[in-house]
Amino acid sequence: MKALVLAGGTGSRLRPFSHTTPKQLIPVANKPVLFHGLEALAAVGITEIGVIVNAGATAVRTAVGDGSAFGVDVTYVPQDEPRGLAHCVLIARDFLGDDDFVMYLGDNVFAEGVGEPVARFREGRPAAQLVLVKVADPTGYGVAELDSEGRVVGMEEKPARPRSDLAVTGAYVFSPLIHEAVRSIRPSRRGELEITDAVRWLVERKHDVRAQVCVGYWKDTGKVGDLLDCNRALLENVVPAVHGAVDAASRIGPSVLVEPGATVTGSRIDGPAIIGAGSTVRGSDVGPYTSIGAHCLVENAGIEDSILLDRSSVRGVRSVRGSLIGRNAGVRRGARGPRAHRLVVGDDSSVEVPA
Ligand code: G1P
Repeated sequence: MKALVLAGGTGSRLRPFSHTTPKQLIPVANKPVLFHGLEALAAVGITEIGVIVNAGATAVRTAVGDGSAFGVDVTYVPQDEPRGLAHCVLIARDFLGDDDFVMYLGDNVFAEGVGEPVARFREGRPAAQLVLVKVADPTGYGVAELDSEGRVVGMEEKPARPRSDLAVTGAYVFSPLIHEAVRSIRPSRRGELEITDAVRWLVERKHDVRAQVCVGYWKDTGKVGDLLDCNRALLENVVPAVHGAVDAASRIGPSVLVEPGATVTGSRIDGPAIIGAGSTVRGSDVGPYTSIGAHCLVENAGIEDSILLDRSSVRGVRSVRGSLIGRNAGVRRGARGPRAHRLVVGDDSSVEVPA
């Protein structure tokens, strides 16, 4: 069994971060979202992985390399423009050959990995095995209808009036029958070849399409709030350890990982939290649910439920909460008096200040 990981797309809902970083490389729990996926695939024994990337873009290739860091062998498949998930299958035909494969959306995170759908597929060898989640508002997803035995009998992409509350997540297991399906469908109203339409093509031709409802944590990390939510969920599994230097005046709670080369002085770290490699935390309260990237500076600050990307800093600001702070970005107390906010904010950014 192979895997096809989708790491292209525009990331329009994650601007400004996606201006400089593909959305799949934004870290949660100090690891790019995409790496969580590659590890999940490696964990079920898949070694041949095709990665769809935007043509001309190099960031994913640089970060993932040949895959050996994950124990897998990566083949890159460039896509000229985001033309839909089924288009990705179409252009990966040579790589996929006639093997079964897991299609995995590189911005999705499954805390429990993909062991369950892969095992079910191997057991019953349907044409396709989908992973669903019950959601309150399914209108932003592919939506599946099931019969009483868990067979998929209907599929629709982002329906205005959903026929169930079962959203399709970003892990699919396909037999080679999917290739005929993706060749047979036409672009949707949004101009994309939808995988939902390809699966419906299989269903309408009476092929066996199965689904199970995902019980573990799942997130499509499409927006900043989703990344923070995912960060909270994955930090629950952090393996606590102190590899850096912590002075006697600091208090480190349970579920805290202090990475090598990090320095914590006169601070309180409430888990779950990670202090990234080479970062400095001084006179601050950090956590819970906070991931500080590598080589950051947190000084006389209070940070909770947030993600700091590498080389960012927060100085003299006590109430940072629910925040995502980009690489090399700085947040600090100003010298212009308590009523002034001096803001140097990049394109597509958003800032909230107290009323
Ligand atoms: C895509 C699929 C949709 C699925 C979702 C899961 O949506 O088209 O069927 O429910 O991923 O993340 P998109 O993120 O392209 O809007």
